[in-house]
Amino acid sequence: MIFNNNSIMRRPCIAANWKMNKTVPEAMDFIYEFLPSVADVKDADIVVAPPFTALFAAAERLVGTNVMLSAQNLYYEEKGAFTGEISAPMLVDVGCDFVIIGHSERRQYFGDTDVIVNKKVKAALNNGLRVIFCMGETLKEREAGQTYEVLQRQLLEGLREVEARKVIVAYEPVWAIGTGKTATPEQAQEAHQYIRSKLRESGRDEADSVRILYGGSVTPENVDSLMACPDVDGALVGGASLKPGSFERIVKFTRGHQ
Ligand code: PGA
Repeated sequence: MIFNNNSIMRRPCIAANWKMNKTVPEAMDFIYEFLPSVADVKDADIVVAPPFTALFAAAERLVGTNVMLSAQNLYYEEKGAFTGEISAPMLVDVGCDFVIIGHSERRQYFGDTDVIVNKKVKAALNNGLRVIFCMGETLKEREAGQTYEVLQRQLLEGLREVEARKVIVAYEPVWAIGTGKTATPEQAQEAHQYIRSKLRESGRDEADSVRILYGGSVTPENVDSLMACPDVDGALVGGASLKPGSFERIVKFTRGHQ
Protein backbone atom coordinates (compact mmCIF):
# COMPACT_ATOMS: atom_id res chain seq x y z
CA MET A 1 0.00 0.00 0.00
CA ILE A 2 1.18 3.49 -0.75
CA PHE A 3 0.61 5.95 2.03
CA ASN A 4 -0.43 9.53 1.79
CA ASN A 5 2.40 11.99 1.55
CA ASN A 6 1.63 14.07 4.61
CA SER A 7 3.84 16.90 3.48
CA ILE A 8 1.15 17.84 0.96
CA MET A 9 -1.61 19.96 2.39
CA ARG A 10 -4.92 19.59 0.67
CA ARG A 11 -7.48 22.32 1.30
CA PRO A 12 -10.72 20.76 2.55
CA CYS A 13 -13.77 21.04 0.31
CA ILE A 14 -17.28 20.64 1.69
CA ALA A 15 -20.02 20.45 -0.93
CA ALA A 16 -23.82 20.36 -0.63
CA ASN A 17 -25.68 18.28 -3.20
CA TRP A 18 -29.30 19.30 -2.93
CA LYS A 19 -30.42 16.85 -5.61
CA MET A 20 -34.04 17.46 -6.74
CA ASN A 21 -34.91 19.59 -3.72
CA LYS A 22 -35.74 23.26 -3.12
CA THR A 23 -37.72 25.77 -5.12
CA VAL A 24 -36.09 29.12 -5.85
CA PRO A 25 -37.49 30.77 -2.69
CA GLU A 26 -36.41 27.78 -0.60
CA ALA A 27 -32.91 27.86 -2.06
CA MET A 28 -32.64 31.59 -1.42
CA ASP A 29 -33.90 31.25 2.17
CA PHE A 30 -31.16 28.70 2.78
CA ILE A 31 -28.48 30.89 1.23
CA TYR A 32 -29.50 34.02 3.16
CA GLU A 33 -29.39 32.11 6.45
CA PHE A 34 -26.25 30.11 5.64
CA LEU A 35 -23.91 32.78 4.26
CA PRO A 36 -23.41 34.84 7.45
CA SER A 37 -22.92 31.65 9.48
CA VAL A 38 -19.88 30.60 7.44
CA ALA A 39 -18.52 34.00 6.47
CA ASP A 40 -15.55 33.50 8.79
CA VAL A 41 -14.57 30.10 7.36
CA LYS A 42 -11.35 30.75 5.47
CA ASP A 43 -9.69 27.35 5.48
CA ALA A 44 -12.10 25.32 3.35
CA ASP A 45 -13.79 25.53 -0.03
CA ILE A 46 -17.57 25.59 0.42
CA VAL A 47 -19.79 24.61 -2.50
CA VAL A 48 -23.56 24.39 -2.90
CA ALA A 49 -25.26 22.54 -5.77
CA PRO A 50 -28.91 23.62 -6.13
CA PRO A 51 -31.15 22.26 -8.89
CA PHE A 52 -30.82 23.96 -12.30
CA THR A 53 -33.85 26.16 -11.71
CA ALA A 54 -32.28 27.90 -8.70
CA LEU A 55 -28.78 28.40 -10.14
CA PHE A 56 -29.27 31.86 -11.57
CA ALA A 57 -30.76 33.38 -8.44
CA ALA A 58 -28.19 31.63 -6.25
CA ALA A 59 -25.31 32.81 -8.41
CA GLU A 60 -26.35 36.44 -8.06
CA ARG A 61 -26.37 36.19 -4.27
CA LEU A 62 -23.10 34.23 -4.02
CA VAL A 63 -20.97 36.71 -5.97
CA GLY A 64 -18.15 37.97 -3.76
CA THR A 65 -18.81 35.45 -0.97
CA ASN A 66 -16.80 32.43 0.17
CA VAL A 67 -19.42 29.98 -1.12
CA MET A 68 -19.09 28.62 -4.65
CA LEU A 69 -21.82 27.36 -6.93
CA SER A 70 -22.14 23.97 -8.58
CA ALA A 71 -24.59 22.35 -10.96
CA GLN A 72 -25.51 18.70 -10.51
CA ASN A 73 -25.13 17.55 -14.10
CA LEU A 74 -24.66 18.71 -17.69
CA TYR A 75 -24.89 17.38 -21.22
CA TYR A 76 -21.62 17.16 -23.12
CA GLU A 77 -22.72 18.80 -26.38
CA GLU A 78 -22.36 22.59 -26.51
CA LYS A 79 -25.77 23.36 -28.02
CA GLY A 80 -28.37 22.10 -30.45
CA ALA A 81 -31.34 19.80 -30.69
CA PHE A 82 -31.10 18.08 -27.30
CA THR A 83 -34.45 18.84 -25.73
CA GLY A 84 -34.34 19.17 -21.99
CA GLU A 85 -30.56 19.24 -21.67
CA ILE A 86 -28.20 21.90 -20.28
CA SER A 87 -24.67 22.44 -21.64
CA ALA A 88 -21.41 23.45 -20.01
CA PRO A 89 -21.39 26.94 -21.62
CA MET A 90 -24.90 27.48 -20.21
CA LEU A 91 -23.69 26.62 -16.71
CA VAL A 92 -20.78 29.03 -17.07
CA ASP A 93 -23.17 31.67 -18.35
CA VAL A 94 -25.41 31.31 -15.32
CA GLY A 95 -22.49 31.65 -12.91
CA CYS A 96 -21.46 28.11 -11.95
CA ASP A 97 -17.95 27.38 -10.73
CA PHE A 98 -18.38 23.61 -10.50
CA VAL A 99 -20.43 20.76 -11.84
CA ILE A 100 -21.02 17.35 -10.24
CA ILE A 101 -20.50 14.56 -12.78
CA GLY A 102 -21.01 10.81 -12.52
CA HIS A 103 -23.21 10.80 -9.45
CA SER A 104 -24.48 7.29 -8.78
CA GLU A 105 -28.09 8.43 -9.20
CA ARG A 106 -27.22 9.59 -12.72
CA ARG A 107 -25.43 6.33 -13.40
CA GLN A 108 -28.28 4.26 -11.95
CA TYR A 109 -31.42 6.06 -13.21
CA PHE A 110 -30.30 8.04 -16.24
CA GLY A 111 -27.88 5.73 -18.00
CA ASP A 112 -24.66 7.65 -17.43
CA THR A 113 -21.99 5.13 -18.39
CA ASP A 114 -18.26 5.61 -17.85
CA VAL A 115 -17.96 6.74 -21.48
CA ILE A 116 -20.69 9.35 -21.08
CA VAL A 117 -19.25 10.48 -17.76
CA ASN A 118 -15.86 10.94 -19.44
CA LYS A 119 -17.41 13.07 -22.21
CA LYS A 120 -19.16 15.18 -19.61
CA VAL A 121 -15.97 15.70 -17.61
CA LYS A 122 -14.13 16.83 -20.73
CA ALA A 123 -16.95 19.17 -21.78
CA ALA A 124 -16.95 20.75 -18.33
CA LEU A 125 -13.19 21.25 -18.19
CA ASN A 126 -13.03 22.56 -21.77
CA ASN A 127 -15.44 25.26 -20.74
CA GLY A 128 -13.59 26.25 -17.59
CA LEU A 129 -15.84 24.54 -15.06
CA ARG A 130 -14.33 22.62 -12.18
CA VAL A 131 -15.54 19.06 -11.75
CA ILE A 132 -16.65 17.01 -8.77
CA PHE A 133 -16.24 13.53 -10.23
CA CYS A 134 -18.28 10.91 -8.34
CA MET A 135 -17.57 7.21 -8.17
CA GLY A 136 -18.39 4.31 -5.89
CA GLU A 137 -19.44 0.69 -5.71
CA THR A 138 -22.90 -0.75 -5.05
CA LEU A 139 -23.64 -3.08 -2.13
CA LYS A 140 -23.80 -6.02 -4.51
CA GLU A 141 -20.38 -5.19 -5.91
CA ARG A 142 -18.91 -4.76 -2.43
CA GLU A 143 -20.35 -8.05 -1.25
CA ALA A 144 -19.03 -9.80 -4.35
CA GLY A 145 -15.54 -8.53 -3.54
CA GLN A 146 -15.49 -6.30 -6.63
CA THR A 147 -15.06 -2.92 -4.93
CA TYR A 148 -11.55 -2.21 -6.16
CA GLU A 149 -12.23 -3.51 -9.64
CA VAL A 150 -15.24 -1.17 -9.93
CA LEU A 151 -13.37 1.80 -8.50
CA GLN A 152 -10.47 1.24 -10.86
CA ARG A 153 -12.76 1.01 -13.88
CA GLN A 154 -14.79 4.10 -12.98
CA LEU A 155 -11.66 6.11 -12.27
CA LEU A 156 -9.62 5.15 -15.31
CA GLU A 157 -12.55 5.25 -17.77
CA GLY A 158 -14.22 8.32 -16.32
CA LEU A 159 -10.99 10.30 -16.21
CA ARG A 160 -9.50 8.96 -19.44
CA GLU A 161 -7.32 11.67 -21.04
CA VAL A 162 -8.17 14.07 -18.22
CA GLU A 163 -5.63 15.86 -16.05
CA ALA A 164 -6.52 14.71 -12.56
CA ARG A 165 -5.35 17.95 -10.96
CA LYS A 166 -8.34 19.62 -12.59
CA VAL A 167 -10.91 17.50 -10.79
CA ILE A 168 -12.08 16.82 -7.28
CA VAL A 169 -12.93 13.15 -6.83
CA ALA A 170 -15.86 12.13 -4.62
CA TYR A 171 -15.91 8.56 -3.36
CA GLU A 172 -19.54 7.73 -2.69
CA PRO A 173 -20.29 4.08 -1.94
CA VAL A 174 -23.79 3.64 -3.34
CA TRP A 175 -24.89 1.61 -0.30
CA ALA A 176 -24.17 4.61 1.91
CA ILE A 177 -26.07 7.23 -0.08
CA GLY A 178 -29.27 8.35 1.57
CA THR A 179 -29.40 5.17 3.62
CA GLY A 180 -28.04 6.43 6.93
CA LYS A 181 -25.34 3.75 6.61
CA THR A 182 -22.09 5.67 6.51
CA ALA A 183 -18.86 3.99 5.56
CA THR A 184 -16.67 3.66 8.61
CA PRO A 185 -13.66 5.98 8.64
CA GLU A 186 -11.53 2.88 8.01
CA GLN A 187 -13.56 1.90 4.94
CA ALA A 188 -13.45 5.45 3.61
CA GLN A 189 -9.71 5.80 4.21
CA GLU A 190 -9.01 2.47 2.53
CA ALA A 191 -11.00 3.38 -0.59
CA HIS A 192 -9.55 6.89 -0.76
CA GLN A 193 -6.04 5.58 -0.40
CA TYR A 194 -6.73 3.05 -3.15
CA ILE A 195 -8.11 5.76 -5.47
CA ARG A 196 -5.05 7.94 -4.86
CA SER A 197 -2.70 5.02 -5.51
CA LYS A 198 -4.48 4.29 -8.80
CA LEU A 199 -4.17 7.92 -9.85
CA ARG A 200 -0.47 7.71 -9.13
CA GLU A 201 -0.08 4.40 -10.96
CA SER A 202 -1.83 5.81 -14.00
CA GLY A 203 1.02 8.27 -14.31
CA ARG A 204 -0.59 11.20 -12.58
CA ASP A 205 2.21 12.87 -10.67
CA GLU A 206 -0.30 15.23 -9.15
CA ALA A 207 -2.09 12.35 -7.34
CA ASP A 208 -1.02 13.63 -3.94
CA SER A 209 -2.63 17.00 -4.50
CA VAL A 210 -5.97 15.71 -5.84
CA ARG A 211 -8.72 16.18 -3.30
CA ILE A 212 -10.88 13.14 -2.61
CA LEU A 213 -14.20 13.84 -0.87
CA TYR A 214 -16.27 11.23 0.92
CA GLY A 215 -20.02 11.12 0.30
CA GLY A 216 -22.78 8.91 1.69
CA SER A 217 -24.80 9.76 4.80
CA VAL A 218 -22.35 12.38 6.07
CA THR A 219 -23.88 14.13 9.09
CA PRO A 220 -22.82 16.64 11.76
CA GLU A 221 -22.30 13.60 14.01
CA ASN A 222 -19.91 11.63 11.81
CA VAL A 223 -18.09 14.32 9.84
CA ASP A 224 -15.27 14.77 12.36
CA SER A 225 -14.22 11.14 12.36
CA LEU A 226 -14.36 10.96 8.55
CA MET A 227 -12.37 14.17 8.15
CA ALA A 228 -9.74 12.83 10.53
CA CYS A 229 -8.69 10.25 7.91
CA PRO A 230 -5.52 11.30 6.12
CA ASP A 231 -6.91 10.75 2.61
CA VAL A 232 -10.38 12.20 3.22
CA ASP A 233 -10.16 15.78 2.01
CA GLY A 234 -13.77 16.83 2.30
CA ALA A 235 -17.37 15.74 2.01
CA LEU A 236 -20.15 15.67 -0.55
CA VAL A 237 -23.31 15.94 1.49
CA GLY A 238 -26.88 15.21 0.42
CA GLY A 239 -29.61 14.96 3.06
CA ALA A 240 -27.69 16.73 5.82
CA SER A 241 -26.97 19.71 3.56
CA LEU A 242 -30.61 20.69 3.17
CA LYS A 243 -30.79 22.60 6.47
CA PRO A 244 -28.43 25.56 6.94
CA GLY A 245 -27.55 24.72 10.56
CA SER A 246 -26.69 21.13 9.77
CA PHE A 247 -24.56 22.02 6.75
CA GLU A 248 -22.87 24.82 8.74
CA ARG A 249 -21.81 22.28 11.37
CA ILE A 250 -20.40 20.00 8.67
CA VAL A 251 -18.46 22.90 7.12
CA LYS A 252 -17.15 23.64 10.61
CA PHE A 253 -15.93 20.08 11.24
CA THR A 254 -13.34 19.87 13.94
CA ARG A 255 -9.93 20.82 12.61
CA GLY A 256 -6.70 19.96 14.24
CA HIS A 257 -5.69 16.71 12.67
CA GLN A 258 -4.65 18.23 9.37
P1 PGA B 1 -26.50 11.62 1.32
O1 PGA B 1 -26.16 11.89 -0.25
O2 PGA B 1 -25.58 12.52 2.11
O3 PGA B 1 -27.94 11.99 1.45
O4 PGA B 1 -26.22 10.19 1.57
C1 PGA B 1 -24.84 12.09 -0.67
C2 PGA B 1 -24.79 12.22 -2.17
O5 PGA B 1 -25.52 11.49 -2.86
O6 PGA B 1 -24.03 13.04 -2.73
